[in-house]
Amino acid sequence: MFQAASLSTASKPQFYRELVAQAQALLAGEHDRIANAANLAALAWQALPDINWAGFYFYDGHELVLGPFQGKPACVRIDLARGVCGAAASQRQTQVVPDVHAFPGHIACDAASRSEIVVPLVRDGQLLGVWDVDSPVVGRFDDADRHGMQALCQVYLDSLAR
Ligand code: SME
Repeated sequence: MFQAASLSTASKPQFYRELVAQAQALLAGEHDRIANAANLAALAWQALPDINWAGFYFYDGHELVLGPFQGKPACVRIDLARGVCGAAASQRQTQVVPDVHAFPGHIACDAASRSEIVVPLVRDGQLLGVWDVDSPVVGRFDDADRHGMQALCQVYLDSLAR
């Protein structure tokens, strides 16, 4: 059984250092991309305050397709030209959106979502998908979250079988 110790709330960098260490322990020795995505979404869901969705979309060579997640049921397929997820995937750059109402083309899967962060998952130059976290709080994610989420995604990418 995996026991997640409670995380430091003293600072975001410290919080993410501890969360990344937990993720490494959780995924150690397992290479299955679905299993590890499911466990990482569950870990993030338990650990991150003020979020209402956390999960994966995988790129099938054509569009983004819903993967393991926690939160309300979400839209299944996202065109790369649409939404915050599409922007992260097509630009291959993390998107931090302080107010989703001000983001043209934002796809509202849960009306409660007010801010969002999406990290592209790229391995060996190939787009694997995106990691998406939504919050009901405007401005929930900042640069510390960007760095922390990217580090978390790297743990996931490193865990995958080659
Ligand atoms: N809001 C996202 C869609 C996915 S849901 O938030 C789970 C977007 O605009 O791409």
